[in-house]
Amino acid sequence: MLIRILGAAAGGGFPQWNCLCQSCETSRAGKAAGLTQSSIAIRSQSGDWFLINASPDVRLQIEQMRSQQCFVETGQRSLPFTSIILTDAEIDHTTGLMLLRESSQPLKIYASASVKQALTTGYPLFATLQNYCGVEWLPLDVGKSIAIASELEIEAFALSTKPPKYMQSEPGSQEIWGVGLTIRDRNTNGVLTYAPGLGAIDQSLQRRFEASDCILIDGTFWTNDELPALGIGGRSALQMGHLPLSGAGGSLEQLAQLKTARQIFVHINNTNPILIPDSLERQTVESQGIEIGWDGLMFTL
Ligand code: MLT
Ligand code: MN
Ligand code: ZN
Repeated sequence: MLIRILGAAAGGGFPQWNCLCQSCETSRAGKAAGLTQSSIAIRSQSGDWFLINASPDVRLQIEQMRSQQCFVETGQRSLPFTSIILTDAEIDHTTGLMLLRESSQPLKIYASASVKQALTTGYPLFATLQNYCGVEWLPLDVGKSIAIASELEIEAFALSTKPPKYMQSEPGSQEIWGVGLTIRDRNTNGVLTYAPGLGAIDQSLQRRFEASDCILIDGTFWTNDELPALGIGGRSALQMGHLPLSGAGGSLEQLAQLKTARQIFVHINNTNPILIPDSLERQTVESQGIEIGWDGLMFTL
């Protein structure tokens, strides 16, 4: 399979329109490459592309793919993705669906029942799109492998019980709001695990990561108190469902124990100093052999 990072930034992108943090200002000064919002695409050997998460930057991301001849064009106004797979119902991972409303066919969307519910009630994109191109919902159940193409199978695994801010959840509810995906190519046996929203790494996740040839993982925040320390938010990284990279128990420490051949951070928030080219933080990540995702990065597994 071929994998392309469409957008390596978290919600808000890099730089974020209203942010004057050091990283955003460095990017505006032309000293750090900008990044669009969180999404990837995968392609099977037969040529079908699948979109995983639909960011508010999807229009630009598709045009970038088109300019690099990624698509075999199949007709005017057709959607260049066979289907769309959603890991959660967060605004940064779903708002792009509205931009795809001009599609000549209904959008085929794999999503969990909770995501479908969220996008029908709290943020009713599915309901709205019914009056445009239409939506065909395809269930994505935790623990079940689904063949999305003759050579590609995906398995969703539970990652987060944190609902989007616009949804209510019963206190203590164990409802799964965010999943990760393990994608296997049956021809090459290449395995990718995608986990853009990750609050903790337990043993079963460690095993999953070690059984993968490449992992694309949550690189949102460097420290747990990153936003409160900058005076731009009240919640810690962990309260937002994102395991910070640094510190005891942080993802860098945990990833150092893993044998996964390729580890790449994605969903990187604009405040994260790893986005600044010469920063100590970036050097720390790279010296551990972990890559920092960027828009347009493509590789095969
Ligand atoms: C997240 O990744 O935690 C969400 O996208 C944050 C948000 O609500 O924008
Ligand atoms: Mn996000
Ligand atoms: Zn910023």
